[in-house]
Amino acid sequence: MCRPEFFAVTYAINPWMDPAAGASAGKALEQWNTLKAAYESLGHRVSLIDPIDGLPDMVFAANGALVVDAHVYGAKFAHAERADEGPAYAKWFAELGLPVKEANFTNEGEGDFLTLDEVILAGTGFRTDVAAHMEAQEFLGRPVVTLRLVDPRFYHLDTALFPLDGHNVAYYPGAFSEGSLRVLRRMFPDAIIASEEDALVLGLNAVSDGKNVIVNAEATGLSAELERGGYSVIPVDLSELRKAGGGPKCCTLEIRL
Ligand code: ARG
Repeated sequence: MCRPEFFAVTYAINPWMDPAAGASAGKALEQWNTLKAAYESLGHRVSLIDPIDGLPDMVFAANGALVVDAHVYGAKFAHAERADEGPAYAKWFAELGLPVKEANFTNEGEGDFLTLDEVILAGTGFRTDVAAHMEAQEFLGRPVVTLRLVDPRFYHLDTALFPLDGHNVAYYPGAFSEGSLRVLRRMFPDAIIASEEDALVLGLNAVSDGKNVIVNAEATGLSAELERGGYSVIPVDLSELRKAGGGPKCCTLEIRL
């Protein structure tokens, strides 16, 4: 994770961002602390990367890389405003001693790559280049399934879908192309289907450890559905970070060693 010390909305690279709306780093930090505390209370270890002045979106650690089997596939950001985050995260991982592959193609890390036990789901359409899906597959030796995003409000795969465990997912159908939707239905007949209402509070930007799901508090319908499915729901309020288009998952890069 990365403390939102320099968090701000100074540019707009997705429809959630409005520089005129005013976002507070102080409030973001307070909310972010509750997310970090939630992980720690569940026994998950949290490592921190130092935030960099001038990179207001760096709090969204998910975009910094994709780490699978202790191999790091580096991010290459779509927008110039975030370009310097890629090398910063790559350096952090290199210092940990992990092999880092510098990407040749645009990709925003776990924003568009979600890892299940047998397959990696990969989004394209707004940020990540489909060529990066192939590059990740070659580097990581895991099958990568391309999914096309069609609604600019759900510009990263992790705004529209999250893994419930290693085998099943929850998603908002309206974010996907017709063909990708058919792929999802075929792969995940037992998926939890989220409403537009829950998607619009970034309810799908959730993090599950297979038992506990950390989810934006406003996503009440989805939370009820998760509880019916036997999951323990931990609601968090990240409304300040949502002003930049981010939620719990965006703030979290999973390090799979
Ligand atoms: N403002 C950031 C951007 O548009 C938000 C990134 C959210 N991260 C994510 N994993 N969806 O790039």
